[in-house]
Amino acid sequence: MDPLPSTTPDFWNSRYLSNQTPWDFGGVPADLKAYLKTHPQGGRVLIPGCGSGYEIKAFIEAGYTVTALDLSPVAVARARQLVGPDSAPNIFASDFFQHDFGSTQFDVVYERTFICALLPEQRNAYRDRIAALLKYRGALLGYFYYQTPDLQAGPPFGFAWGTADELFARYFLLMKDIPVTDSLPLFAGHEHWQEWHRTSFGATPTSSLKERERVPLHSSI
Ligand SMILES: C[S@@+](CC[C@H](N)C(=O)[O-])C[C@H]1O[C@@H](n2cnc3c(N)ncnc32)[C@H](O)[C@@H]1O
Repeated sequence: MDPLPSTTPDFWNSRYLSNQTPWDFGGVPADLKAYLKTHPQGGRVLIPGCGSGYEIKAFIEAGYTVTALDLSPVAVARARQLVGPDSAPNIFASDFFQHDFGSTQFDVVYERTFICALLPEQRNAYRDRIAALLKYRGALLGYFYYQTPDLQAGPPFGFAWGTADELFARYFLLMKDIPVTDSLPLFAGHEHWQEWHRTSFGATPTSSLKERERVPLHSSI
């Protein structure tokens, strides 16, 4: 058993330093490339648990403004080197659950092998934080790992069928769900590209109430 819990930076640092990184894609996966081609409108993107951060540059080149973070300073150093000095300051060595985002709200949160790196008991906190950080109609999108979980064996901790729907239904609607064809061996056959759109459920007054106020309650027509 690993003496370091997976909630510590050193657990992840040691894996990056010893190149024990079977999740590392080494580039930009196909479904994200396709998404960026069909969504050239730009916007503000958050990449939590960005790891080596290959996707950061892809989002930037597609016209998006990116904030990325990772618990592991080793991963962050790699990601900063990949993106270069202009974008490096937008990559933080920070805990997603503690990071101070100020009043920033995002159009997109990009997920790849981050939620499956968390303990299953952290999933509600992940969902709530992302729901709070996304604009109304923003999207949590990316790669989700579906594997009946062996709670002793992770990370990665997969979703059992149905549990992601249960988790996200409070704030999100699933708008796209397709099997992934270029998965790494660790995830092959168990990975889905999904796009979960932020609804107004449980939203703060700045999104849901204002949106509802636009509907005339006493229409004269
Ligand atoms: C399996 S790796 C995936 C990295 C990257 N998303 C990728 O696809 O290559 C999980 C990453 O999440 C990071 N991580 C774990 N817990 C975190 C937390 N609470 N806040 C931020 N990053 C975290 C780890 O340091 C690690 O880089």
